[in-house]
Amino acid sequence: MKKIVIAIDGFSSCGKSTMAKSLARNVGYLYFDSGAMYRAVALFCIEEGLVDDNGINTEVLRSRMDGIKITFEADPVTKNSITFLNGRNVEKEIRSLQVSRIVSPVAAIDFVRTNLIEQQREMGKAKGIVMDGRDIGTTVFPDAEMKIFVTASAEVRAQRRYDEIIARGDEADYNEILENVQQRDHIDQTREVSPLRKADDALLLDNSNMTREEQEQWLIEQFNKITKEC
Ligand code: DC
Repeated sequence: MKKIVIAIDGFSSCGKSTMAKSLARNVGYLYFDSGAMYRAVALFCIEEGLVDDNGINTEVLRSRMDGIKITFEADPVTKNSITFLNGRNVEKEIRSLQVSRIVSPVAAIDFVRTNLIEQQREMGKAKGIVMDGRDIGTTVFPDAEMKIFVTASAEVRAQRRYDEIIARGDEADYNEILENVQQRDHIDQTREVSPLRKADDALLLDNSNMTREEQEQWLIEQFNKITKEC
């Protein structure tokens, strides 16, 4: 069967990566987390002292950008994707609060995006991949054979995040989380570089009222339909 590229974009906290990972597993494709790449560049900035109270030292980052190589490997036991920054496993560090705090401004730097998009296109050359992010179907792979745009109401996403935090044993304020979700939606959709938007030819998946199993089933059906037509 001909291999295709699957692009999954959407709002934050709507379960994109869980969905992308399970789809990749189900169809035997490789999974690439483009958000992890922006996080790896943010980690590089922290480790190399390129972040201070004035923000990110973009001039130095620009001169170092060609020396930043991000790769993925599957964990031999869990089969989960592990992110490597210049050959070093950074999967844990890129999920830290410190990285989360500066990743948005890093992802808004034009030369960072140009560089990472090039690396992402290289990963998709052989096809047979699932990549998730914010601009995969619009900018990185505008010709992807299968494009999904995921959304869920802000209230549902805030409730999911609230439940996650409570399940971890931490305290949370639902209204504060809802406000943060709405604020991030606004920033994602209105930023100048690669704003989040649904590609015209993307399939819309609103998972507000879907179980994980229903979602998985729906994705497999779309995949089978599309690959039959290819
Ligand atoms: O999905 P995530 O939270 O790991 O993404 C980290 C950051 O990178 C977030 O600020 C959105 C940004 N991002 C982006 O701008 N473009 C992508 N293709 C993927 C993520």
